[in-house]
Amino acid sequence: MSNKLFIPGPTEVRKEILTELSNPQIGHRTGEFRELFRSLKPGLREIFGTQGDVLISTSSGSGFWEASIRSCVNNNVLHAVNGAFSKKWSELSEQCGKEAAKIEFEPGKAVKAEEIDTVLADRNFEAFCMVHNETSTGTASDLEAVSKVMKNHPNTLWIVDAVSSAGGMKIDTDNLGIDIALASGQKALAIPPGIAFAFVSEKAYKKAETVKGRGYYFDLLKLKKMYDKDMTPYTPSIPHLYALKKQMARIKEEGLENRFNRHKEMASYTRGWVKKNGFEMFSEENCHSDTISCVLNTKNIDFNNIKKEMAQIGYSIDSGYGKMNEKLVEEGKKTTFRIAHMGDLTLEEVKELTKQLENYF
Ligand SMILES: Cc1ncc(COP(=O)(O)O)c(C=O)c1O
Repeated sequence: MSNKLFIPGPTEVRKEILTELSNPQIGHRTGEFRELFRSLKPGLREIFGTQGDVLISTSSGSGFWEASIRSCVNNNVLHAVNGAFSKKWSELSEQCGKEAAKIEFEPGKAVKAEEIDTVLADRNFEAFCMVHNETSTGTASDLEAVSKVMKNHPNTLWIVDAVSSAGGMKIDTDNLGIDIALASGQKALAIPPGIAFAFVSEKAYKKAETVKGRGYYFDLLKLKKMYDKDMTPYTPSIPHLYALKKQMARIKEEGLENRFNRHKEMASYTRGWVKKNGFEMFSEENCHSDTISCVLNTKNIDFNNIKKEMAQIGYSIDSGYGKMNEKLVEEGKKTTFRIAHMGDLTLEEVKELTKQLENYF
């Protein structure tokens, strides 16, 4: 028996989606493939809140981290760093040979728009990267506030990691004026890991035309050229595309707004449960994520042990983001644990999990 996943990715994948992975393969240069690819476009546009292109890569989301940096940055990029993933992305930019400046916010704090505005007013950066939903800390930043200040800096591309929010939280890409919004399939979209998506604006494509050394596999211009022909530049994981097609149909049936509301409901229930059980949220007030709750382990409960015991009875849970907890211990602070409530999980399933957890305290 496999465990039910309450971890922040990969998330629980429903059986009917898993079944799609076993469809017979088709050639990726056939009409049948193009029809399949074309059928995925409207649902992705809706999820990303755009009329534009949402590119598909059958890599994980980090592929689009690299694609956005290599394709759209010649020299310098500003990263907001407020947790483990935003930090990793800034390191990736350095590893791609770019100057990656960082504006840091304490873990658990959201990205502050005014501070971004000040830094960008002081110095020109080709792009500004931020993580919408910091999975390591359960913190969601206010995209509307950042959108307002990004309007003051039209020469800077705005690149948003929506890896653990897309499909679970609203991202109004066109209205916000985001240039690249990227996401992974194995989080709130609840499909198996190995597929990623990125909305790319016309402005970002234009910028890419000026960038040298975009590489091959993650060149956004190559992906775009083939996207327009309903294909990918190289052989994609066709099983993932079938899984995505099924999930798009399920999301349509549920209704995107209902899906967002289900996430809100699960998050709100979890926060109530946290309080009722004498814990505190790690994320700052009014910036709690709808897809993942990061909890301060105020009671010093041994979550590593609970994690092991829960695994014995069929639940995969998370005992907090490893490196962050290590640092908190070093600083003599309390550690965290996380409850993921994303993807296709229901409120009833989250209640089932929290009831089991209560046996340990
Ligand atoms: C916010 C965020 N960004 C990026 C990543 C990396 O995504 P992937 O593992 O799909 O490459 C993760 C993974 O957990 C994440 O949570």
